[in-house]
Amino acid sequence: MKKDMQNTPQEEMMNVVMVGHVDHGKSTVIGRLLADTDSLPEGKLDLVRENCKRNSKPFEYAFLLDALKNEQAQGITIDTARCFFKTKKRRYILIDAPGHIEFLKNMVTGASRAEAAMLVIDAARGVEENTRRHGYFLSMLGIHQVVVLVNKMDLVEYKQSVFEDISRQYAEFLRKIEIQPQAFIPVSGYAGDNIACPSERMPWFSGMTLLEQLDEFQNALPADKQPLRLPVQGVYKFTENNDSRRIIAGTVEAGTLKMGDEIVFYPSGKRTSVKSLERFNDSCDRPFCSQEAAAFTMTNQIYVKRGEIACRVEELAPHVGVRLRVNLFWLGKSRLDKNRNYFFKCGTAKVSMQLEAVERVVNASDLSCLSRQYVEKNEVAECIFLLDSPVAFDLAGSCEASSRFVIVDNYEIAGGGIITEALEAEDFDKRNIRWAAGSVGIEERKKLNKHKGLIVWMTGLSGAGKSSIAEDVERQLVSAGIHTYVLDGDKLRHGLNSDLGFSQREREENVRRTAELASILEDAGLVTIVTLISPFAEGRAFARSRSRQSFVEVYVKARLETCIKRDPKQLYRKALEGKISDFTGISSAYEAPTEPDLVLDTDIWTEEECVEVLFNNIMSRVAE
Ligand code: ADX
Repeated sequence: MKKDMQNTPQEEMMNVVMVGHVDHGKSTVIGRLLADTDSLPEGKLDLVRENCKRNSKPFEYAFLLDALKNEQAQGITIDTARCFFKTKKRRYILIDAPGHIEFLKNMVTGASRAEAAMLVIDAARGVEENTRRHGYFLSMLGIHQVVVLVNKMDLVEYKQSVFEDISRQYAEFLRKIEIQPQAFIPVSGYAGDNIACPSERMPWFSGMTLLEQLDEFQNALPADKQPLRLPVQGVYKFTENNDSRRIIAGTVEAGTLKMGDEIVFYPSGKRTSVKSLERFNDSCDRPFCSQEAAAFTMTNQIYVKRGEIACRVEELAPHVGVRLRVNLFWLGKSRLDKNRNYFFKCGTAKVSMQLEAVERVVNASDLSCLSRQYVEKNEVAECIFLLDSPVAFDLAGSCEASSRFVIVDNYEIAGGGIITEALEAEDFDKRNIRWAAGSVGIEERKKLNKHKGLIVWMTGLSGAGKSSIAEDVERQLVSAGIHTYVLDGDKLRHGLNSDLGFSQREREENVRRTAELASILEDAGLVTIVTLISPFAEGRAFARSRSRQSFVEVYVKARLETCIKRDPKQLYRKALEGKISDFTGISSAYEAPTEPDLVLDTDIWTEEECVEVLFNNIMSRVAE
């Protein structure tokens, strides 16, 4: 939202989204609203009327909107158009999304936000699949102030029975998704009935007009009256005159901040109070208000990090936790899956996370549920997320900035939604204690090493070439200044894993231990290269789930015949003679990766070529 569009104490403002099937007359209703509230740019109405006359087509209010959109399109990059109108009570921003996907995209990524919705249904066509879908999306986004417009009443001769049938049918659907609309209104955008003025053609309707109804909607508690939420964007140090003070900077997303306020940072729980407010070129001590960029110093120099939220001690605290129930909308090219790492961003916090469970993927039209443990592109689902470290957050319906999240997969926003519940995470301490790392975090180590940590997990048959490739890549990485270490399966079996044999259970344990060790080395900031047959997909998925930064599954591929021919340790010969049992490829299974991040086919490529490809792949990842 632009700063100049923010509400002032005198002037209330409300964001309303307009949803409905494309052909159900949204544009006409909007055009009519703008015209009847005198909200069009000067001369616009006449211009569009004249244009229509010149092209001998009848004037329609929808053309107004098209004309406005064309003007806006030059300046906006998001997929929605905004219009502004005003009633006696307040100013409105009307968000019009061309389709539900665009609308959801904008809502979940924070490009637009809405406190109320108008849902349009064509009286002649009734409730259609998209009408139900839109209702569901509103509920999924936590928008509960809804007015339903049964539009195009002129096409059904203003019949009360048509209006009542549609209202009954749709109210029934909305009830199931816990939306109770404030009103159903029979309107005609085309003829202007019940938009700004009561209709004489529907004397049987005694409810409010659309404009009256909009004015009945409640604004959320003004942001300044809400508890302070100031997500820390950065911490800066004064550098002049040996000044040791730190400046905390961020945007006040809700509430206000003034000098002397006692504050507490979440999730750390550290407390201090505000010593001074820092304003550029302005020393006045006016408090920072909602939506203002703020900076302040503290009375005691505690260590706080980006991602924490500053709150006032006496106000309602946010939740702090690692397990969340969410309503998620997934946009990613690849589906949201378990056993993979994603980044969870909320406020200024960014932590790595995994999908713990998909509770339900909902068919938004008939509300049927699919029970499966992944979410595909453009689907809406209720999920449980498990974060790798605690974040502070609020639940949907309170401060937007701390109750909405986005998910980043491979550096792209792949989804987002709202947090609906904070859940207990009993084994969190157990899970996280394994990173014995104290106060030094991933980011700090990254800075120190000048690159990030990474796990390169090389899987493949014995003799496929894993160790030889890894050794050469390690040498090249060291020459390039990369901190790296190879965990070679064969070698680990002489120490850490010397108690393990080759039964399935022992191999699983071998993989588990190595994965844990790799994750510790990754946490320490190393490019950790693992060479392990790791024959089972489940073990490799486990290893991936242990990575907190980046995991590359490299399939070192070679045909079994090739490996038997190479047989550097004469193990295949012995296995074929029955002298070694449970030998991978001969008497024990190898599950080839189905979706590896990289394949090095040593049947086709020379060892040098494989080394070059892997080295380049690693270098491009550590640089990110
Ligand atoms: S894994 O299956 O548990 O991942 P790992 O990579 O640690 O295996 O060890 C494989 C190495 O152990 C092989 O390269 C080979 O030298 C040796 N080895 C000895 N016995 C076996 C066996 N039965 N199956 C596979 N590898 C074996």
